[in-house]
Amino acid sequence: MTRETWATRMGFILAAVGSAVGLGNIWRFPWVTAENGGSAFLLVYLAIVILVGVPGILGEFVIGRRSGRNPVGALRELSGSKAWGLVGMFSVLTGVVLLSFYSVVGGWILRYFVESVVALGTAGPAPYFTDPGPYYDSLAFTTDAVLYHVAFLALTGAIVFAGVRRGIEIGTKVMMPAILLLLVGLAVWASQQPNAAAGYAFYLSFDLETLQANFFDILGPAAGQALFTLSLGAGTMVTYSSYLGDDRSLPFDATTIAILNTFVGVLAGLVVFPLLFSVTGEAGGSGPGALFVSIAGAFARLPAGTLIATAFFGVVTLAALSSSISMLEIPVSFLVDEFELSRPVAVGAMVGLVAVTGGVNALRPALFEFVAGPLVDSLLTTGLIAFLLFVGWVLGTDAVEELRKGAGSVADALSTPWLFAVGVAIPLFLVFTLLSSLGVGGLAAGVVPVSSFWLTIVLTLTLTGVAFLGLRSSRSVV
Ligand code: TRP
Repeated sequence: MTRETWATRMGFILAAVGSAVGLGNIWRFPWVTAENGGSAFLLVYLAIVILVGVPGILGEFVIGRRSGRNPVGALRELSGSKAWGLVGMFSVLTGVVLLSFYSVVGGWILRYFVESVVALGTAGPAPYFTDPGPYYDSLAFTTDAVLYHVAFLALTGAIVFAGVRRGIEIGTKVMMPAILLLLVGLAVWASQQPNAAAGYAFYLSFDLETLQANFFDILGPAAGQALFTLSLGAGTMVTYSSYLGDDRSLPFDATTIAILNTFVGVLAGLVVFPLLFSVTGEAGGSGPGALFVSIAGAFARLPAGTLIATAFFGVVTLAALSSSISMLEIPVSFLVDEFELSRPVAVGAMVGLVAVTGGVNALRPALFEFVAGPLVDSLLTTGLIAFLLFVGWVLGTDAVEELRKGAGSVADALSTPWLFAVGVAIPLFLVFTLLSSLGVGGLAAGVVPVSSFWLTIVLTLTLTGVAFLGLRSSRSVV
């Protein structure tokens, strides 16, 4: 069976941007930023997007395009070892975990959209206008939430079922411009709202003190959010670039995706924070409901509030779909490539599985917050470490060659430093981040009289050192 490819140059970029831009920018980013001190968090997050994100996307691209396979097949084929195939399985698992909470939030959004459309039809105010906070509480984590989760998942399945060209590519071509336009409009409007300035101050002021005091606490969530928003660490970018031809410049595409995605993320913050402060007077405390409470409350004040709310939730539903399809495509491409299942069967099996796992998340707030926050952060960080070590130590110079294909002279000059970054520097950083957010140093600090920071450093160096040695010796065997 010949494998599908993207039909147009723009198709791939838009699909990858569509994957990156999603609830991570509009819902998760404001929530996590509010929980981690606002502007200080923004700064660390942006630095990680540039220094880890762009080289990281390139790492996944190189694996995907060189192999033309799903993450499992890619790592196994390129290394010639089954063990790496197992590492690829980790991505498939992460894809399922991601979709199991993402589709729940997608369901909430879909619900707000449906309610808005109904309100438009009956010419009444949307039901969430009067008490946005209690309204959100009354629907999240109820049996209704399970139904909407399944509905959202079914929509996701329908697009992936239609395939790469007819489903993913055409879908995202419509969705992306609509999202951008609407967000810009909303950001302008938000700036006119009372108390918007407090929101900007929280979000944008450069606050060195908070940054210094909390740097190590911010690091884990900031790295997790940076990976999440760029769809990194789960093999989405491996999978999407596996449908790519040799004429594209990978560095150009990776940079474009990171810039567009960051733009939408920052823009979403410019909508949500002024509104949040305008409605509730503060940023924190509302947890995963922050977006719903702030936006819904703000729309209530607008003359054509219901209409704008309908447009907003419609667009966010589209943004969520263009991301959820990229999560579902990971296990689906795995089943299609490796077990030669037909697309419909693969999609059906995965939708069935996630309907159940996501259904459990939809009912348990504590579990949901754990999965959507720390669990996903650690899975993505671990996944990206594995991909980058693979690029640096197994592909090595082949990776450089792949990177240069279709790219210009700038890529030639940067390719060797890039290989060092993905093989050594970034894994070191990510292992440190992972260990400190798991609190490993803190645990050990109870036993030996050294500060948790230094313990984490020592552990990082030991672990990565062992990994480097292991990888080097396995390479000489192959
Ligand atoms: N980046 C998407 C968002 O911000 C979510 C997403 C899609 C994702 N595919 C992914 C996150 C793969 C991690 C890995 O909403």
